Amino acid sequence: MYTIAVLPCDGVGPEVVAEGLKVLEAAASIYGVQYETVSYDVGGDRFIRTREILPDSVLEELRAMDAIYLGAVGHPEVAPGILEKGILLRLRFELDQYINLRPVKLYPGVETPLANKGPEDIDFVVVRENTEGLYAGVGGSLRKNTPHEVAVQEAVYTRMGVERCVRYAFELARTRARKALTMVDKANVLTYGHSLWQRVFAEVGEEYPDIETDHAYVDACCMWMVKNPEWFDVIVTCNMFGDIITDLGAMIQGGMGVAASGNINPEGVSMFEPIHGSAPRYTGQNVICPIAAIAAAGMMMEHLGEVECGQAIEAAVIAALASGKLGDLSTRSGVSTTETGDLVASLVE
Ligand code: IPM
Ligand code: MN
Repeated sequence: MYTIAVLPCDGVGPEVVAEGLKVLEAAASIYGVQYETVSYDVGGDRFIRTREILPDSVLEELRAMDAIYLGAVGHPEVAPGILEKGILLRLRFELDQYINLRPVKLYPGVETPLANKGPEDIDFVVVRENTEGLYAGVGGSLRKNTPHEVAVQEAVYTRMGVERCVRYAFELARTRARKALTMVDKANVLTYGHSLWQRVFAEVGEEYPDIETDHAYVDACCMWMVKNPEWFDVIVTCNMFGDIITDLGAMIQGGMGVAASGNINPEGVSMFEPIHGSAPRYTGQNVICPIAAIAAAGMMMEHLGEVECGQAIEAAVIAALASGKLGDLSTRSGVSTTETGDLVASLVE
């Protein structure tokens, strides 16, 4: 019996989470997976009402969960950064979810903006470090709001943090057919921080002679992701670059509506979410594509060891996308959020 915390949060979060839970229920009943959900009301609305962001008591309860399923964070009436830092990043940090796992997989029937590329070309996974780098929040400002303002935003890397991330990526590469791992960095400019990444990558790599390794600077990586995405199998990279290249990844795999992710603590509590934001413009309109959130629920099941159940969810997503019934997955597709969820749920086998 699993206990899954559900944090729908802001904007379209509740709508996509409802569809994910619908599909999860269908798959879990077929595969005999027992779970209960505990919903938490956190997000912009609660903040506006009570000034509470993520109460410590909620965090403590989340520590005891088997997994967390999150919708989206961000509210138009709350200044940028408050909810992002106070909910999403705080959870990633406090629960030490040091891996952000982001598959970039073009499913058959989904349109990519890349000419002459198909599902056989776009199938890789980005392993994004999730607790350090520019996200560490180290820095400060001086003479704020004067012409002489100074702003310092430090990137923080620890050998421990880099090593556990790189090792996770090597292990993941081992489970894949191609067994190839590319490190993406900017070691030609970030000669302290990314020199550490390069040395750790080379050292850990010695333990994995079966894995083919490669390296790309982040700017070139963006170019190759568009020009030759088939070159990539597993990518490992720092927090900031992982954030950026996975939005590009989402686009080449068919858009924000399909890109799922997991914030993984292999020894602790992990959290699964679509990589898209709260899309406040579309809130309550029943038009946003819930496929990313549904796929994230599948990742959650696989992570919990319910591999058949997770794969059944992914298979249902694939079947729904291949059916041609979902249009272009955009908000103008004419297919509603709930209809998409119903279709996927009906295709779970
Ligand atoms: C993501 C998001 C977050 C990030 C924001 C909302 C803080 O863009 O999950 O990619 O930058 O990590
Ligand atoms: Mn992002």
